[in-house]
Amino acid sequence: MPTVAVTRIIPEAALGPLRAAAEVRLWEDDLPPNPAELAALLRGCAGALTMVTDRIDAALLDAVPGLRVIGTFAVGYDNIDVAAATARGVAICNTPGVLTEATADAAFSLLLAAARRIPEGITYVRAGEWRAWRPMVLLGRDIHAATLGIIGLGRIGQAVARRARGFEMRVLYHGRERQPDAERELGVEYVPLDALLAASNFVSLHCALTPATRGLLGAREFGIMRPDAILINAARGPVVDTDALVAALQGGQIGGAALDVTDPEPLPRDHPLIGLPNAIVVPHTASSTVATRDRMADLAARNILAVLGGTTPPAIVNPEVLAAR
Ligand code: DGY
Repeated sequence: MPTVAVTRIIPEAALGPLRAAAEVRLWEDDLPPNPAELAALLRGCAGALTMVTDRIDAALLDAVPGLRVIGTFAVGYDNIDVAAATARGVAICNTPGVLTEATADAAFSLLLAAARRIPEGITYVRAGEWRAWRPMVLLGRDIHAATLGIIGLGRIGQAVARRARGFEMRVLYHGRERQPDAERELGVEYVPLDALLAASNFVSLHCALTPATRGLLGAREFGIMRPDAILINAARGPVVDTDALVAALQGGQIGGAALDVTDPEPLPRDHPLIGLPNAIVVPHTASSTVATRDRMADLAARNILAVLGGTTPPAIVNPEVLAAR
């Protein structure tokens, strides 16, 4: 039986099938393994089911030469050096599709919460300040008929656009390329990035983290955005320059931010983003629903077992590795 390392406790939807076909080596701590612990955990394993918190680089791959497949419990794989894995014949699999709707729900929830100042309202009531109905308290922003700018119109961006249609929003998008099918089906309009930033009441990030998108939004871009605009990030923290975002929120260049992801992650407890009244931060939980985590677990396990069994996995990032086997 091959040995498969699993780097955190995840649903039985993965652990059950893996245990039936492999020796499972489970990292049971609540916190992720550090790089040395990760290397020790993966040593001697043919497969590894890893998390977004695990850095998979050339040094790690060299330390675990028997590894044949990594199945990440995520759609994003910017924590993995895919070129290094491909060069060493290690298949990289991910979990696209199964978390699209949950992540879009979460991004839209952040938009609604920030626009209607829900966290501030909760704090206000808990602090005993609700002593009378007040006509001028906690005034939010309209969502219906507002303009939403989506950066990255992949699966999740498109799912957010579908939700926006229900709110009768105008939806602009920007991405690597135009998507005529999506434009027709969703009624979204392609615009250059600066035009999107200038026109949008809400800007929602749904692009992958790549060298081209790292730091995509910084001081210059916040200067272009509307002073009442709200930024939503359920993609990856480093797409945004954190210091520039703090300055833009403090200086009123933009109206607010609602963040599922940050840079760094986690944020230190005393980080300014946590204390700002016009910022909402949640702990990278956009895909955290019971059913979605089960689906991610199931897909991650099927990916690993397929590669170890010599068949084609449902989702692979570097299929050329299998072709070469
Ligand atoms: C992903 O899938 O990339 C998320 O960030 C982790 O759920």
